[in-house]
Amino acid sequence: RSEREEAVLKGNIDLSAIRLMVIGDLNDSRSGWKINLTLVNKIRKEILRFLDAERDVSIIKSNYKPGDTIHYVLDRRRTFNVSKTLHSLLPEVSPLKNKRFKTCAVVGNSGILLQSGCGKEIDSHDFVIRCNLAPLEPFSDDVGLKSDFTTMNPSVVQRVYGGLHNKTAQEAFVQRLRQLNDSVLWIPAFMVKGSERHVNGVNELILKHKLKVRTAYPSLRLMHAVRGFWLTNKINIKRPSTGLLMYTMATRFCDEIHLYGFWPFPKDSNGNTVKYHYYDTLKYRYLSRAGPHRMPLEFKTLKTLHNNGALKLTMSKCA
Ligand code: CTP
Repeated sequence: RSEREEAVLKGNIDLSAIRLMVIGDLNDSRSGWKINLTLVNKIRKEILRFLDAERDVSIIKSNYKPGDTIHYVLDRRRTFNVSKTLHSLLPEVSPLKNKRFKTCAVVGNSGILLQSGCGKEIDSHDFVIRCNLAPLEPFSDDVGLKSDFTTMNPSVVQRVYGGLHNKTAQEAFVQRLRQLNDSVLWIPAFMVKGSERHVNGVNELILKHKLKVRTAYPSLRLMHAVRGFWLTNKINIKRPSTGLLMYTMATRFCDEIHLYGFWPFPKDSNGNTVKYHYYDTLKYRYLSRAGPHRMPLEFKTLKTLHNNGALKLTMSKCA
């Protein structure tokens, strides 16, 4: 390993260095990607030592009762109260129980997806995972429409839907949830304080509008378990991003995992500007170290797995 790679793996992140390394790698790996089933199985087995996505993907009804309190994972002093509404919407069994798919897509939110024409390819996968309720319709040529599993950080309720305080915001939110039909809406509700009121607002709307969407809430150990797995592989990621959480979980039930929309860099391989999100004007927060994630380090790790055939990263246009 070069000194630069060592530094990156230790977490001394130098964005431009990573981008250059990645571009160098890209040239080698564009020619042909082949799945390495031995490695896929090895990774699945190793991850299973830390978490079992079938179980950790969601808490279930029988383990809680209304009135229970849950300590937030990242702020143990504060608690989340399990309301009647939340309890009534908890799954009876894991939403991934006995699931196994040949191919899965995990769709990240990078602007690299714009003009990619990847929509059809993404929708052709057996199971499509999306992050943070990202809008699909105006971008469907590039991102597709199929959604089997959609994550939503509670902060999205505040940032995109104004805390659901007014009718217009509520209607927009309900309309977005309708597009999910009866697929899974995965809400990491117990991570940081302040989520409770947003989660309650969401659940009240789901009940009021009789929405078919199936809510799920990750187990309290999921984040630490995912972190633990990467840490034993010498990848120190304090707070795994949604995309990394989804890849890690997907190893449990997908034979072949394809990642789209993963590109945490402001320039593409030709030096053109890339938006942080394909659908809004958010900036690259972690560049200032203000953000909680280490997406470039995660990316480098995923890129290595891509090069070894454990997963497929698509960062260019789809054929
Ligand atoms: N992603 C990426 N490059 C970007 C933006 C996103 O690789 N420029 C990937 C990351 O894996 C990220 C996922 O796409 O987790 C979804 O994006 P976003 O909704 O921004 O992710 P979160 O991790 O939930 O971010 P935050 O906690 O800041 O809300």
